[in-house]
Amino acid sequence: MATTGEAQPIKHQESGHKSLLQSDALYQYILETSVYPREPESMKELREVTAKHPWNLMATSPDEGQFLSLLLKLINAKNTMEIGVYTGYSLLSTALALPEDGKILALDINRENYEIGLPVIEKAGVAHKIDFRAGPALPLLDEMVNDVKLHGSFDFIFVDADKDNYLNYHKRLLDLVKIGGVIGYDNTLWSGSLVAPPDAPLKKYVRYYRDFVLELNKALAVDPRVEICQLPVADGITLCRRIS
Ligand SMILES: C[S@@+](CC[C@H](N)C(=O)[O-])C[C@H]1O[C@@H](n2cnc3c(N)ncnc32)[C@H](O)[C@@H]1O
Repeated sequence: MATTGEAQPIKHQESGHKSLLQSDALYQYILETSVYPREPESMKELREVTAKHPWNLMATSPDEGQFLSLLLKLINAKNTMEIGVYTGYSLLSTALALPEDGKILALDINRENYEIGLPVIEKAGVAHKIDFRAGPALPLLDEMVNDVKLHGSFDFIFVDADKDNYLNYHKRLLDLVKIGGVIGYDNTLWSGSLVAPPDAPLKKYVRYYRDFVLELNKALAVDPRVEICQLPVADGITLCRRIS
């Protein structure tokens, strides 16, 4: 054992910690045992509609949808925001979890994909909770930050959009989420690419956004305004609870 130099961090295997989710079969087991049997019919329908869309890779996974739903109920969320809607799976999960008078400000540059899921959301009877705005999120957030009445007004914000803007969103969202409220950043494990060797054959978009996700994770880890927990659910979700 080395006796000089900087102490090396202990590898998790050496301390007996287990990382279990290394097999597709185990993930399938979770879905079939705990997720699918409890998935609301409308979410199943939306998932199946989305599966036929060419960009279905972008959709929030059903286990993450279930996680969001439970989290929203645990924190009694009422006023929420979502950045990155696509066909609306996480949006529907949120809308179903909120109370009758709950609200979701839903932002996406693409209205067309939102409209694929909208009939299912309407049929589920929760469309009245959603205020969808088409357009880039950042300018709208700037407008909102300029309105001090909106400061601290959100209980929960889910960010699942352009990864190269997450830190820009973070700066603004910290004004908009209440103290004690939660921001969830999706894809913070970025397909496992964060620890891939430099010559790994990554898809172009994975390689491009990887540096932004690494930057985000580094920044969140030392941000004293939030408590964080990075969960290996789906593609990784980092929860930030605003504390100041
Ligand atoms: C991963 S998908 C969202 C998935 C969605 N949460 C779901 O449950 O299926 C990312 C979305 O972010 C949107 N997006 C990308 N850049 C954006 C921006 N600058 N502002 C708002 N939305 C953006 C894309 O149009 C896309 O629909």
